[in-house]
Amino acid sequence: MPRTWTDSLEIGIPLLDIQHQQLLDEMDRLLEGLKTKKSNREIKSILKMLDGYVAVHFQYEEGCMNNYQCPVACDNKNAHQSFVQMLTQIKSDIEMNRNFDLVADQVQRNLLDWFVNHIRRIDKQLEPLVQANKPMAS
Ligand SMILES: [Fe+2]
Repeated sequence: MPRTWTDSLEIGIPLLDIQHQQLLDEMDRLLEGLKTKKSNREIKSILKMLDGYVAVHFQYEEGCMNNYQCPVACDNKNAHQSFVQMLTQIKSDIEMNRNFDLVADQVQRNLLDWFVNHIRRIDKQLEPLVQANKPMAS
């Protein structure tokens, strides 16, 4: 299964980077599950994991943005809300047994591609703030 995560997505806050990896890995699993026509039960258990990761991660990251007084903190919050909406849409498509191939396209574009783009455009703005606040090397 190809992995969407690459080290170039790192921001420098270890827990945040781990959460991003978990999220992307879980979305990769969802995509793979849809493409290989896994059972509804398996797909739903992946979605449940994903839901949990999303809730914990967004809350933590929004806290980091506030702590570092990141200028895109508000944009980040709004973007997270639209991600949750897209995920809700995908969950209801799966619930209604929509064609898995069509849903897989949505997962690729609206979850995976969206998230990578989001990390690069928004979350990455934390990186210079983290660097600037690092204790001096002795
Ligand atoms: Fe974010």
